[in-house]
Amino acid sequence: MPQTTKKTATKKAAVRSSGTTTSKTNSQEDKHAPLMQLFTDALKDMYWAEQAIIEGLKKLQQAATNEELTEAFEDHEMETKKHISRLEKVFEQLELPAEGKKCAAMEGILKEADEVIKHTPEGSATRDAGLIIAAQKVEHYEIASYGGLVAIAHTLGQTKAAKLLQKTLDEEEETDLHLTDIAETAINFEAAEESEEENETEATEVTEE
Ligand SMILES: [Fe+2]
Ligand SMILES: [Fe+2]
Repeated sequence: MPQTTKKTATKKAAVRSSGTTTSKTNSQEDKHAPLMQLFTDALKDMYWAEQAIIEGLKKLQQAATNEELTEAFEDHEMETKKHISRLEKVFEQLELPAEGKKCAAMEGILKEADEVIKHTPEGSATRDAGLIIAAQKVEHYEIASYGGLVAIAHTLGQTKAAKLLQKTLDEEEETDLHLTDIAETAINFEAAEESEEENETEATEVTEE
């Protein structure tokens, strides 16, 4: 009896030692499985969000008055198309189908942009100022998401994916800065002047009455 037990134990040890490399790789993959799942879920979220942003940017272009702002939205629509194809490349590298998962946050942010359009006068700098805030909320969500995705891609050893996602992150950050610049150099002042003019008109009307 003791001999049999010893044999069994030796057999188990042999199996363990012969499978060292394979089981080590498998256990590393297993260890990363939940993080990989989180990574792919976040990629799907962004794949859906970027497509919704294309539609959102079209609306923003139509609603904007300032030429520089309209051009910024047009340029970013072109960039957003690149963001979509970069995500497709990342899916390809992971050998996964490119598919989106509804992003409730982006849906909400874009609904807010619709509200800005609804509640501001057409052709006004005030509306443009509101559109910039709405667009920057989109960019900030993207910056947070891509920032996290780049970091996780590095952790998972997905260097190519990290590089692709970093390119998109850089473009989101540049867009955000460009929008701040447009707001601070022109639109916010024009919007403030519009408000002053409106106050003056209201004051004149009250005096005439
Ligand atoms: Fe994007
Ligand atoms: Fe963006």
